[in-house]
Amino acid sequence: MRIAQLNFRQPPGPGDLIALDIDPEALITLQQLQRDYGDMVSVTKPNGRLAYFINDATEVRRILTRNHNKYIKGPGFERVKMLLGNGLIVSDGDAWRRSRRMIQPSFSRRNLHQLINVMVERCDRRANQWADISTSKSECNITVETSDFALELILLSIFGSDYDARILAEGDNPFAFLSRSSKRDLSVAMKAHNLRKLLLSIIEERRAREGLMQFDFLSMYLKAKDKDGQQFSSLELFDELMTLIVAGFETTANTLSWAWYLIAKHSDVEKKILMEIEKCLPRGSKFSVESLQAMQYMQQVLEETLRLYPPVWLFTRRSCELDELSDYDVPPDTDIYLSPFVLHRTEHYWTEPNRFNPERFSQTNAPIKDRPYYPFSLGPRRCIGEYFSFLEMKIHLGMLLPRFRMQLIDNVEPELELAINLRAAKDIVMKLTER
Ligand code: HEM
Repeated sequence: MRIAQLNFRQPPGPGDLIALDIDPEALITLQQLQRDYGDMVSVTKPNGRLAYFINDATEVRRILTRNHNKYIKGPGFERVKMLLGNGLIVSDGDAWRRSRRMIQPSFSRRNLHQLINVMVERCDRRANQWADISTSKSECNITVETSDFALELILLSIFGSDYDARILAEGDNPFAFLSRSSKRDLSVAMKAHNLRKLLLSIIEERRAREGLMQFDFLSMYLKAKDKDGQQFSSLELFDELMTLIVAGFETTANTLSWAWYLIAKHSDVEKKILMEIEKCLPRGSKFSVESLQAMQYMQQVLEETLRLYPPVWLFTRRSCELDELSDYDVPPDTDIYLSPFVLHRTEHYWTEPNRFNPERFSQTNAPIKDRPYYPFSLGPRRCIGEYFSFLEMKIHLGMLLPRFRMQLIDNVEPELELAINLRAAKDIVMKLTER
């Protein structure tokens, strides 16, 4: 009603009501809308709310960067809120600004480089486990392997020595339910709630122990202060730690399992990446910041993997004031749908968009910051863990790829599961042999 009264300029779109949730049907709907109406489409949802699907690279960038203050998080995030309370990924406005300022310094490159040794040590252990798999059954469930690896690594990065001493003290990893199921519904929120007592007791114990020497996210977060000198309360910390765990492991795990799949499928890429590892990391030498930075081709392979399979394949915003995009108006309370998956596979932005070709990201091509590419989002709410995830993924591949060969068991393209995260609908299993 308000929309008609004020005569807003809306992008074209269908007359019917269109349902849009973060589910597999949404991808089909969005691709159809784009085919029929172009890169900016308006729809009315069954609840009467106006929604825009924005696939125009310039306007996506404008929403996420220059005009980000005009938007808050949109539909779908209420589900995530059940699990993550008011942690960084779901909070908005002043609460988000305060947390981001307090947390950002923990993610400085200097801090993250202190985690390299832990990453290397865990990859070493995994190499031993894989050696056993290759001699016993030789089939490797790479979905489970990368999921366990990334979960273990984020927990170690947060809790340091408390990971073994407190989290694993009772035997099984109490967070394992997160890696076993991709559901993020009420049952998962309840299980996460049960971890509250354990996490709050670790937080309180840490507060009591002063002068910690080791680096981990918990000690950094405990020291963080806002502009009034206030620290996080224990309940705020609980939300922030759950946020780090959930945001930090599944995305990286999915990217790594797609990377193994794509490398196995493209022997030329495998050869090139192995040559680079040998050059940057001659046998016997240790991982260093320099060797990781030198692995440029591996960086390209990961970037191309994230182009084809961006874990956060669809995300949303809601306008909180009037905005203008291209020739159109965005009235307040409009839902905005943004899909890296659709944009990364749009033909007028990418030639042969469905082809895996890491050369697209070589330094002779356009700088990555100017690309129609946003697997980590853009602007002030861009992923805080991007550099962490590249360190982790490069060390994982850099250590395991030269020792092990993964081969596809069949030529069937994995079906996609399009939930909050994009992953393979069925676990990817490959043949594992030691080189
Ligand atoms: C390949 C790996 C990853 C991908 C593709 C990814 C993707 C994203 C995306 C798209 C967002 C923005 C969502 C939105 O604004 O609606 C985001 C935010 C975030 N990510 Fe990541 N992420 C990855 C790894 C990580 C890791 C390893 C961590 C933690 C160690 C992490 C922590 C976060 C947090 C805390 C936010 C919220 C930032 C804010 O709103 O200020 N992510 N991520």
